[in-house]
Amino acid sequence: MRTLFAAAFVVFVLVAQGGTGAAQTPAPNPNAPDIENGRKDYAFGNPSCSNCHGAGAVGGWGPDLAGKGITVAQAVKAIRKPYWKMPAFVPSQVTDKEIIDMVAYWNSLPETKEIGKWRFEMVLNAPKGQELAMNVIGCVMCHGTTLTTPRHGAGEVNGDFEWFKHQVYNHDVAMAEQWKMLDRETAPSSTPAPGRVRMGNYDPKRVTEPMLRDIYNWIVDLGILVPISARITAAPAEAASTTYTVDVANGAVPNKGLTAEGVTISVVVPPGTKVVSGGGTGYAGVKKQGNDDVATWKVAKFAPRDRQKFTLTLAGTATGNAVPRGTVAWEKPSAKSDADVDFALPRPGGRGAGD
Ligand code: HEC
Ligand code: HEC
Repeated sequence: MRTLFAAAFVVFVLVAQGGTGAAQTPAPNPNAPDIENGRKDYAFGNPSCSNCHGAGAVGGWGPDLAGKGITVAQAVKAIRKPYWKMPAFVPSQVTDKEIIDMVAYWNSLPETKEIGKWRFEMVLNAPKGQELAMNVIGCVMCHGTTLTTPRHGAGEVNGDFEWFKHQVYNHDVAMAEQWKMLDRETAPSSTPAPGRVRMGNYDPKRVTEPMLRDIYNWIVDLGILVPISARITAAPAEAASTTYTVDVANGAVPNKGLTAEGVTISVVVPPGTKVVSGGGTGYAGVKKQGNDDVATWKVAKFAPRDRQKFTLTLAGTATGNAVPRGTVAWEKPSAKSDADVDFALPRPGGRGAGD
């Protein structure tokens, strides 16, 4: 009897040890919260949560999220079906796992003592549409005070109010549709690579059609922008001269988007260098503008998907850190803000080098 008992005890110990052994090498849990991933998703993730909730989740235009003990269930509700002014993000934009990680990150932070600043300062005496986009709805927190990105997006397809509404209420679908129509090869630098749709969807009950109408009228008054992009690159230096190429394109959708008319491309010649020659359609030589020598080209129009290259050969050594830089401007359609497209040669090793 005694031996039997002992044997039973041995079996029990073995089973118990087997159990412990399994617990020491658990199968990785794909939903285990990861604070570091959460920090990255929050700060640099595509939907730019931090534009409204502030760096370090200390709040700003939107409420603070740090150290409040927000649960995953509360966060899922707030993100998928926001309670008031926040756009809703669908799982293709923010996954459940990303929410789990962000919640862990917020809860790893101390509680906020003082709510952060708005990303863009409030503009006083703003037109009604701007005031709505800034103070009431918050579009400005991602798009800046003059909504440049949506104005470019409208230029890509000559978007009317129906287009605007579709983009705001059904953004995850509408943006994917528009990206399909674009040919990114013709837009060398301004159009983002197709990827995850970042902006969420707004609820028409919260952001009503009359509100959107006011915002739309305001951006039309500021001017819908032709999606012109420009960049300048340098060929390897030859003897005493270097040739620069300005690559200008209209990224709009053919038979839909806007055409720029009366286009002027200008390059400011860096002090210390001299123009040897200019090439490409419409080269109009060098003129003094203030203290600068400016090389210009005149082109009648840039229609959707038009792309042209202009070259400038310079001799000499630029003083200081000066690099060739310039602008593309056009007469029609005109815009009250953000009308010109600026470009500059990236400094070696600097931001944007090798673009
Ligand atoms: C346009 C500004 C804006 C953006 C962008 C934004 N939020 Fe919000 N968020 C708000 C506002 C405003 C609220 C308050 C509720 C409301 O108005 O819908 C809120 C509420 C929340 C809440 C609930 C907070 C609480 O105390 O209960 C969470 C969680 C949250 N947001 C997470 C996110 C995440 C994650 C992202 C990015 C995917 C994000 N938000 C993007 C403005 C924004
Ligand atoms: C969380 C940041 C964010 C907020 C808030 C936001 N947007 Fe956007 N929006 C974007 C981004 C980023 C894009 C570019 C496409 C994408 O990835 O979604 C975009 C695209 C658009 C487009 C499509 C045209 C284009 O290509 O740019 C329109 C129109 C637009 N936004 C209007 C608005 C309006 C109006 C509001 C306020 C009701 C608003 N947005 C709020 C981030 C935001």
